[in-house]
Formats: sequence, structure tokens, C-alpha cells
Amino acid sequence: MDYIRLSLLVTCCLLPLTKGGLVGLLGAPKIFPEPEELTEYTNLINEAQNTDGLDAPFNASRIVCATKQLVFGNLFKIYYLVPCSDDDCAFKQCEAKVLVQPLQKYSVHAEVKCDQDARDGVQTCKQLKKAHQSRPKRSVGNNIGVVTMEKSNDGYDTNIKPYFDEFIKSYEREYSESGNSEVYQQKYKVFEKNFKIMKSLNEMGDNAVYGITKFMDYSYDEYKKYLAPGFTKQLVSIREADMSSLDVNGIPESVDWREKGAVTAVKNQGQCGSCWAFSTTGNVEGQWFLKHGKLWSLSEQELVDCDSLDQGCNGGLPSNAYKSIEKLGGLETESDYPYEAANEKCSVDKADFKVSINDSVALSKDEGELAAWLAKNGPISIGINANMMQFYFGGIAHPWKIFCNPKSLDHGVLIVGYGTENGTPYWIIKNSWGPNWGEKGYYRIYRGDGSCGLNQMATSSIVD
Ligand SMILES: *[C@@H]1O[C@H](CO)[C@@H](O)[C@H](O)[C@H]1NC(C)=O
Ligand SMILES: *[C@@H]1O[C@H](CO)[C@@H](O)[C@H](O)[C@H]1NC(C)=O
Repeated sequence: MDYIRLSLLVTCCLLPLTKGGLVGLLGAPKIFPEPEELTEYTNLINEAQNTDGLDAPFNASRIVCATKQLVFGNLFKIYYLVPCSDDDCAFKQCEAKVLVQPLQKYSVHAEVKCDQDARDGVQTCKQLKKAHQSRPKRSVGNNIGVVTMEKSNDGYDTNIKPYFDEFIKSYEREYSESGNSEVYQQKYKVFEKNFKIMKSLNEMGDNAVYGITKFMDYSYDEYKKYLAPGFTKQLVSIREADMSSLDVNGIPESVDWREKGAVTAVKNQGQCGSCWAFSTTGNVEGQWFLKHGKLWSLSEQELVDCDSLDQGCNGGLPSNAYKSIEKLGGLETESDYPYEAANEKCSVDKADFKVSINDSVALSKDEGELAAWLAKNGPISIGINANMMQFYFGGIAHPWKIFCNPKSLDHGVLIVGYGTENGTPYWIIKNSWGPNWGEKGYYRIYRGDGSCGLNQMATSSIVD
């Protein structure tokens, strides 16, 4: 049996969430064949090998199974086959363990073990699943690095229940322990799971703080629904902006369009997947202000009701919405066409249009160019993966790619500025979840490495 120990320090951040669901992570190991995640940490092992100059027998093309488990940090295991050098063995089965831990810096330990002649039976995912199911529930790794559990007789965790009761009060939930006890119990369960995730997010310690947000009693599915299912369905083509004339090296240290009056107050989309409409109006509000000097708060409900390229509360895209605004002829204001957080019949009144747009453009995926464009032209509509936002309280989020897939954009928001704090560059992002979420309704996230795919769908309207 040969062990090869590798270690490497990574300077980026790590958060224990997966695309497959927040909640499944806290129990037994999650068995997955998620191509992006696999690629990500096979790269990691390769990097560790290169760093230490070791020749570990790792070959990603022969993976038979992979698992991930939340321990103190994240424990990944990859099972794979390597050809044997001696004649009486065709393939050996190897197990690579990668433990990623939140220490002073993020520490990654990889360990490779090859001791099994694969002819004795390949360890498949199915067998692994069985092995885990037949074990007692309190499997190794469960709850390590999370909160210590102290269950009272009635099934409530005495460490968590007081937070839940406080939460119900401060977010004015309609259920209560005495009033609607079935809902109370259901919601408590969701809250307890989310509470533990939130705790572990903080223990992982990137620059952001995670806490009890208004989404604390939302299951992962409910949270996803709130964002916008179907957000990525592109219907219309959008021309690319010419970024070549921008002075990328001469941009200001920081920009904040809020200070220049180009941004309206933070709004709240409610329980409607209309983030795309808020992202769009935010951009148009800024463009109109910069061309005409007047900041109107514009109507998302007009887009929810009348934009036939998009799907109202079921999702949409800013690039579609710009075309619809051109077709409709303009946008009414928030007060003339108020927000209802529901799909309603289109009741647009052209006489009430206060703004119109002439065109729209897709912007570069280069964050330096995006910063230069923003500094010169105003707030930018973007798509983002909102995995990290459910429990966000403040600070600069910087999740690792595996935990915030840049290809899974599910939320539409607005970049209103950028800056640097203690050497960490960040974007300032206006969200549409009300001013009592995040940093007074805003989110800050790392600028420069495409975190959560924020650079993948940057667009703007053009107002002549
Ligand atoms: C990995 O395995 C595949 C398939 O057996 C082979 O084609 C490839 O050359 C191997 N790569 C390395 C680096 O050994
Ligand atoms: C921009 O659109 C407005 C409203 O449709 C129109 O009045 C104006 O002429 C357009 N500007 C240009 C330069 O096409």
C-alpha cells in the first residue's frame, strides 16, 4: 500500500454549498458525478502533484465514483482505476482523498491510496451508496464542524429554537408554535438545517459574514423558485458593445453610482421570480439619468405583465426585456404602474411613459473592461449564480468555483460600482430583496476572477 501525501495552500475561498442542494450536504456523503466539480478538484490534485513534484497515479479519465462530505471542511473522495505495472494485475483501484479545510489560509490535503486489484471488484457508486445506507445514521463526519446538537424531548434543538422564535417575530411570520403548530414544526426543520449551513459558512470564513436572513425558513427549492426559474433562456440576439475604445488602465480606484444619484432605492421583488425585471429597470434608470439628468424609479410590473418575450414571475432575461421595452415604446414609473409581485394583465398606458430606450448591448466578459465601461457609462445589468446569497449578511463574498458554478446563472442583479478593501477588489451589487437583506440591500463580491459567473451575462440598454 503506498500513500502519497500532498499539501498545498490555496488563497481563494471555499464555501460548502453545491448545485445539487444546500440541505443534502449536512448528512452522509453526497455521491455525485457533477462534471464541473470533478474537473475542479481533479485539477486540484494535479496541481498538488505538480507543486510537490510527485508522480501520483491519478488519471481523471478513469473515475468510477466520487463523493463529497461536509466534515471540518470538505472531504472529497475519488475512486479511479490505474493500469498495473505487473503482469498479474490489469488495473488497480485507487482512492484519492482531498480534504479542503478553512485554516488561516485554505488548506488542501490530497492523499492517494492504491491497494486494490480491480479484478477483486471495482468499488462502484452503487456499492458505496449501499455501504453508507447500511451504516447507523450517526455516520462519521456528520455534524463535525457544524453546531453541537442538543435535542430536547420535543425534538427542538435548544440552541436553535430561540433563534427561530426570534426570527418569526422579526420577520413577521404568520405561523406560531401555538397558532399553527404543523407549519411551525415544518418551518422549524427547514430553519434548523439552514441555521447549521449558515454556521458552517461562517466557520469556513471567507471575507463575507453569513447570518439569519429573511430566507432562513425557505427550503432550497423555495429559495430557487424565488429567484427565477428559466432565467437562462435566451430568446433574442443582442449585439456586442465595442469595448476597444475604453481606457482599461486609466480607470478610477473606485466608482459608486449611488453617490452620483444614478441609482434608485433598493426594491423588493417579493415572492415572484422577477429579478430580471429589476435588473433591467435598474440599468435603464441609470442610463436615462446619465443622458437626461432625471432619475425615475421605473415599473417592473409593466415588464412582468407586458413583456411577452419573458415569463413574468417565472423568470426572464434583461436582453429580452430591452427588446420588449423598445417594442412597447417605453416604461412607466413605479408610481404609475406599481409593483404587485404577481402576473397580471398588461395595462400599459403609453401616455404615462417617462423613458424609452433606443438599443441594447452585450458587454465584455473581461472584468477590467466591465469596470472601465461602468466607470464611463453607468450601472450594468448582470446574471449571477445566487447560491451564496441566501444567508449573506455582509462583507466581500469570494466563493470557490466548485461551490458557485459560474455557468449556473439564476439571478438577475445590477452592478452599481466597484472598489478595493484591504487589498481585496470587489463589485458593489444592487439586489432586489429589500433593504433589510445583505449590506442595506447590496451585495459585495470579489472582482477579478468571474466569481459566481457575474461576468457572463453583462448587458446594458442604450438611451440616445
Ligand atoms: C489516462 O487514461 C486514458 C485512458 O486509458 C489514457 O488515454 C490517457 O493517456 C491516460 N492519461 C495519463 C496522463 O496517464
Ligand atoms: C431614441 O428613441 C426615442 C423614442 O423612441 C426617439 O424619440 C429618438 O429619436 C431615438 N433616438 C435616436 C437617435 O434614434
